[in-house]
Amino acid sequence: MTVRVAILLSGGGSNMVALLDSMTGDHPARPALVLSNRADAGGLQKAAARGVATEVVDHRPFGEDRASFEDALHQRIMEHSPDIICLAGFMRVLTGGFVARWQGRMINIHPSLLPKYRGLHTHARALDAGDVEAGCTVHEVTAALDDGPILGQARVPIKSGDSADMLAARVLKAEHQLYPAVLRRFADGNRTPIYLS
Ligand code: GAR
Repeated sequence: MTVRVAILLSGGGSNMVALLDSMTGDHPARPALVLSNRADAGGLQKAAARGVATEVVDHRPFGEDRASFEDALHQRIMEHSPDIICLAGFMRVLTGGFVARWQGRMINIHPSLLPKYRGLHTHARALDAGDVEAGCTVHEVTAALDDGPILGQARVPIKSGDSADMLAARVLKAEHQLYPAVLRRFADGNRTPIYLS
């Protein structure tokens, strides 16, 4: 049985592209949908150019009503019958209600070595702390922000003179290695963490 994957994003979608490009040959999964909360997300065009269905559910008309936004999101996702959701730069915090619907079937990539630096500005925070290495984490999504069982991590060095942007670019390259490697395992039902360095 082919595992169907929905990818949610808000931006350029370089991780999404890495995931799409990986789902070929004997890979257990195939892309079913790329969805964004922003109609202008660059990732949407990249997905469409690769022949993948795209959808937009704009969060703004829902204002503070996260539950209604998430109901609309869930409904649109279900039209494509995915088995797994990959969050790939999806910059909306999801409530416990939505997370519960996808518990054990939704994974996220975060640009830090969790549990360090949950939330935003991870690279600047690593530099400010004087860390000598940084990296990224793929984890199962639970109700707590940037938490949940770790499925993989990739480490990169922090070099002297690094700016946050330089570090972000180095980490992003590692993300493109890690996320496809984790998805392949996860789609096979294997939750053994992968550690890349
Ligand atoms: C990635 O660095 C991802 O780890 C980060 O957003 C970027 C998306 O880039 N995600 C988060 O910060 C989630 N908290 P992309 O659109 O090029 O894949």
